[in-house]
Amino acid sequence: MQIIDFAHVWNTIPFPAFIINSEFIIIEGNSAAEQVVQTSHNQMSGKALSVFFGINSVVLETIKQVKRENSSLSQYGIEVSTIDRVSFECNLHINPLDKNNENYLLIMQPNSFAQKINQSSSHRTSARSVTAMASMLAHEIRNPLAGISGAAQLLAMNAIDDDVELADMIGQETKRIGTLVDRFEVFSDIRPSVRNAYNIHDVLDRAIRSSSAGFASSIKFEKQYDPSLPNASGDADQMLQVFQNILKNACEAISKDRGKIKICTSYNSGVRYTISGDQSEILPLQIEIIDNGSGIPDNIINEIFEPFVSSKVNGTGLGLAFVSKIITSHGGLIECTSHNAGTKFILRLPVSKKSSKDKI
Ligand SMILES: Nc1ncnc2c1ncn2[C@@H]1O[C@H](COP(=O)(O)OP(=O)(O)O)[C@@H](O)[C@H]1O
Ligand SMILES: [Mg+2]
Repeated sequence: MQIIDFAHVWNTIPFPAFIINSEFIIIEGNSAAEQVVQTSHNQMSGKALSVFFGINSVVLETIKQVKRENSSLSQYGIEVSTIDRVSFECNLHINPLDKNNENYLLIMQPNSFAQKINQSSSHRTSARSVTAMASMLAHEIRNPLAGISGAAQLLAMNAIDDDVELADMIGQETKRIGTLVDRFEVFSDIRPSVRNAYNIHDVLDRAIRSSSAGFASSIKFEKQYDPSLPNASGDADQMLQVFQNILKNACEAISKDRGKIKICTSYNSGVRYTISGDQSEILPLQIEIIDNGSGIPDNIINEIFEPFVSSKVNGTGLGLAFVSKIITSHGGLIECTSHNAGTKFILRLPVSKKSSKDKI
């Protein structure tokens, strides 16, 4: 068997990674970590983490929390600053490495590396601009379009020879614009989500049923639900549309005869999302939707949550922008990983604080 050089593996990780002991002393740091703290591996080993990040660093606070709770923690979208005032936004992943809580693995995943994650902050703006544009389109285009279409019909009635064809063409093309405006209007009609408690499995099952009755009729679904999953909080109808959009994309990427979509749910208490400053939301509900399709083309993978990004001939590129907007308004996160044998979307949502019958 081939022997793996773990020191090499460690240094190949493209994100800063540290091993810290329970006194917050750096035991190890990889090559990417050397760059962040601007010090060699030998110089940082044995030094306190606070030497490089300051004593009030959010990094230290997060490790303290992991130590207290003795469970791993992922904190999304936090601003980390070094003592040299270099700051960057990253996702922080901290895992205890042994049962006795002696050592911890700390990985800082800078957001430039994590663009596939729908960071609510960056996507909120683009989603909002689409919403604004959608309502503008609906109001400002529909009226003149009706005028053009009416005029084309009048022209067609009185036209002779070749002009009939041209008038018809105007009519058909205005109809096409009308259909496009209708599609945008669906996007503009996203009211602030109501916050009711709902069962994620019920919504997932509804999405599977409606997909199977239509575009997913030949697709096999595999479900791995955690039956003890608590209710989520939000608008079940909007979430149904979220799942339908993700399932539709999956079906469009997989072959009809061996297409498979796996849906897993689980509870993961160690996921937090920093909203602003020291405020963070716990996002323990995890829904994974995995397909065995052709994967997302490399040239658009970092922009799939942006509006109008599509690899399809007749795609609008609005499906995932819509999904992103809804998930954001629910205080959640969506991540995506993809390769040429399939794609995985992970949704993380907050839990409802009340029972399913209560309004929140
Ligand atoms: N499950 C998936 N497998 C492969 N590609 C996907 C998947 N989901 C999304 N995509 C890619 O993301 C793009 C954007 O999706 P979307 O916003 O729904 O727009 P559209 O479906 O209209 O193209 C798609 O065109 C496709 O290239
Ligand atoms: Mg789509």
